Amino acid sequence: MNIHSCCNDYDYCNLDLRLKFPEAQGFNAIHPIILAALVLLILLICALIFATFFCKKKTQQKKKKKKQSFNDVEGSVASRDPLIPGQSLKDLLDHTTSGSGLPLLVQRSIARQIQLLEIIGKGRFGEVWRGRWRGESVAVKIFSSRDEQSWFREVEIYQTVMLRNDSILGFIAADNKDNGTWTQLWLITDYHERGSLFDYLSKNTVDIPGMLKMAASIANGLAHLHMEILGTQGKPAIAHRDLKSKNILVKSNGTCAIADLGLAVRYDSMTNSVDIPPNTRVGTKRYLAPEVLDDSISINHFDSFKRADIYSFGLCIWEIARRCNVGGIFEEYQLPYYDVVPFDPTLDDMRKLVCVDRQRPQIPNRWQSCEALRVVSKIMKECWYQNAAARLTALRIKKTIANLEAQEDLKM
Ligand SMILES: Nc1ncnc2c1ncn2[C@@H]1O[C@H](COP(=O)(O)OP(=O)(O)OP(=O)(O)O)[C@@H](O)[C@H]1O
Ligand SMILES: *[C@@H]1O[C@H](CO)[C@@H](O)[C@H](O)[C@H]1NC(C)=O
Ligand SMILES: *[C@@H]1O[C@H](CO)[C@@H](O)[C@H](O)[C@H]1NC(C)=O
Ligand SMILES: *[C@@H]1O[C@H](CO)[C@@H](O)[C@H](O)[C@H]1NC(C)=O
Ligand SMILES: [Mg+2]
Repeated sequence: MNIHSCCNDYDYCNLDLRLKFPEAQGFNAIHPIILAALVLLILLICALIFATFFCKKKTQQKKKKKKQSFNDVEGSVASRDPLIPGQSLKDLLDHTTSGSGLPLLVQRSIARQIQLLEIIGKGRFGEVWRGRWRGESVAVKIFSSRDEQSWFREVEIYQTVMLRNDSILGFIAADNKDNGTWTQLWLITDYHERGSLFDYLSKNTVDIPGMLKMAASIANGLAHLHMEILGTQGKPAIAHRDLKSKNILVKSNGTCAIADLGLAVRYDSMTNSVDIPPNTRVGTKRYLAPEVLDDSISINHFDSFKRADIYSFGLCIWEIARRCNVGGIFEEYQLPYYDVVPFDPTLDDMRKLVCVDRQRPQIPNRWQSCEALRVVSKIMKECWYQNAAARLTALRIKKTIANLEAQEDLKM
């Protein structure tokens, strides 16, 4: 491009002539605008990236919160303690109105104040510890994060509206403790120093009133679980699906409470639905009902699950009756089918025994010579009928034992 210029204003005006380059001039004029636009664009992009990043994080947190509602209270616990000094667990629980446990904030505060003292048991899902809160003993079942589903399910069942009952293990609180790499999941319940029915019967015998008290309270707990109560103050029907002497606790006055609700299913008759798809054959093989062992159980009918619980209940009262000391005579403690299957029986072992051979635990002769043991052995036989529909209901058992208790009282 040729750029030239001339002037004729005065002599030698060319000396002062400055060439004006159109490109240069254009560039000089555009440059600040482009710069400003560029900066603005970069800022905008940055803002956009930040905005989307935070949005994503927030929705992720929300999703997490939905899954474990215990995270809701994370911040608030640090700032204020919802617990009143001097209040006992009983005070707290007596004043819960919802019938489904303490508010989450209170649950977490309690959990954070518990001191673990000693390990008292180990099950399929983690360990059970004795802990202390404000001088009271509590039981803490600690699940690893691998078993989050089991923890979540058990907590969910314990928080079922109106579940609380003397014959169901008392739920206190649940909490998840995250230390960055590892999550500990806590389930805090009442502590019972006598341990499980299995623990107790292994070391102790019972008398007739003691046996009836145990059997009546377990039947009570099972009746309460199984019963559907309609209305706002109601509860769904619940089937336990893992009833056994290790999942029943013995209280200090000799009554029992049903524990370990992690495999339970709930039924709502309004929607005619079970709250989780019921996988068959969960539970403990030794205690599985024949229709569960051979998979013939009709899972579309909720009563089927109750009837399978009743079969397991029958085995539990057989374990108790063996330890019933009448005139210094009793049997040694044994698990059901101790004499016919190995210690850790397979499904096939159990199926052959219970479904094909239709065997049931033996009834010792001495049980026929005592009215209470005779009635109790009749009950257990009617609990473990092959035909599930013919089995007794928990409510029926509860009434029969109550009658027997009244008769025994008259004898005294
Ligand atoms: N609330 C409690 N109070 C006192 N002891 C308890 C309590 N809960 C559990 N235990 C003790 O801890 C043991 C372990 O309980 P856990 O439910 O973890 O396992 P399990 O019932 O033995 O086996 P599974 O895993 O098949 O249920 C129980 O057998 C009992 O001795
Ligand atoms: C978290 O807890 C686990 C198990 O108790 C432990 O092995 C791990 O070292 C802990 N991590 C941190 C960061 O404290
Ligand atoms: C526990 O359940 C049984 C059986 O449903 C019921 O009779 C009893 O009143 C309940 N007890 C309490 C304290 O809720
Ligand atoms: C056992 O103790 C509970 C309280 O823990 C009480 O409600 C119940 O009536 C007692 N039962 C018997 C038979 O003593
Ligand atoms: Mg258990």
